[in-house]
Amino acid sequence: MDQLSLLKPDDWHVHLRDDDAMAAIVGATAQVFGRALVMPNLRPPITRVEQALRYRERIMAALKPGQSFNPLMALYLTESTPEEEIARVAETPEVIGFKLYPQGATTHSEAGIRSLEALDPLLETMAHYQVPLMVHGEVTDSNIDIFDREALFIERYLEPLTQRFRSLRIVLEHISTKEGVDFVERAQGPVAGTLTAHHLLLNRNALFVGGIQPHHYCLPVLKRENHRQALLSAATQGNPRFFLGTDSAPHHRSLKESSCGCAGCYTAHHAMELYATAFDQVNALDRLEGFASHHGADFYGLPRNTGVIRLERRPSNIPLELPFGSESVIPFMAGKTIPWTRTEDPSNSGD
Ligand code: NCD
Ligand code: ZN
Repeated sequence: MDQLSLLKPDDWHVHLRDDDAMAAIVGATAQVFGRALVMPNLRPPITRVEQALRYRERIMAALKPGQSFNPLMALYLTESTPEEEIARVAETPEVIGFKLYPQGATTHSEAGIRSLEALDPLLETMAHYQVPLMVHGEVTDSNIDIFDREALFIERYLEPLTQRFRSLRIVLEHISTKEGVDFVERAQGPVAGTLTAHHLLLNRNALFVGGIQPHHYCLPVLKRENHRQALLSAATQGNPRFFLGTDSAPHHRSLKESSCGCAGCYTAHHAMELYATAFDQVNALDRLEGFASHHGADFYGLPRNTGVIRLERRPSNIPLELPFGSESVIPFMAGKTIPWTRTEDPSNSGD
């Protein structure tokens, strides 16, 4: 298969940042994806519908004229989220759920959750209103090996949580382990998972090839090859519980290339080309459309997009760096060539 035509896809997990940084990168997402679920880990975090709607307006104002992109917002769940906010989300179509960050798990997670049990009343209300919970699934105890943090979070917290709230809609975000895949596959209730392009393409060796590679550092951290194989197989089996979420997370170059580099890979610039490259590795290009364009919309109970995007087997050169606010961002696979290219479809212009 050398040419692919897909129903317009959606990105169910993206970091668009804010201000001039956002203005520099939002176009990369908006020109390919019909919708994106925008993560709320700004400083301060987006914890209220009002704030999310204002953030959404800033995103819309940064789009090119005529671009039809629909950013959907997630609120940052905290221990002081009021129950009324859940009802508000349920009646606000532009805001579709809450993101749970364990405190200290990742970039800008200082306001996150310390005790999951304390959330039970809120989760009860979310289940009642059918408002989904998107989960960053890692324990944060510093004495737990970083490569075990996702598996342990599932065993300690997520499995029991799905037992306590059987109707709660849960998305395990950026799954990085076989245990994460197994959890989503076996869960009894309405449970799904997103998979990033970088976790499908790289294993943890990529962090250290020829020296330390800060642009491959993300959270959850890349895992062993057997985990990558499990993720690839989950993405390409046609299972509607797995769908696309890039977790594209741009940072200023100087913050990544530092004595304490921060976590996040910027993949939005060639997102669909990267996913096509991963699916191609296991001869599963025919499964890309379901993963990228059907399963997520179906899970969130939203209509599938209209319009198409096209990809062809032709090399794409990834730039060495891209503008990003006051500085630059190093794109994922900077300076490399990948075998797929997205072609503009003239009949889609302005879409
Ligand atoms: C994300 C970021 O930079 O905002 N970083 C990352 O490594 N994925 C936060 C997140 O999604 O964990
Ligand atoms: Zn993220």
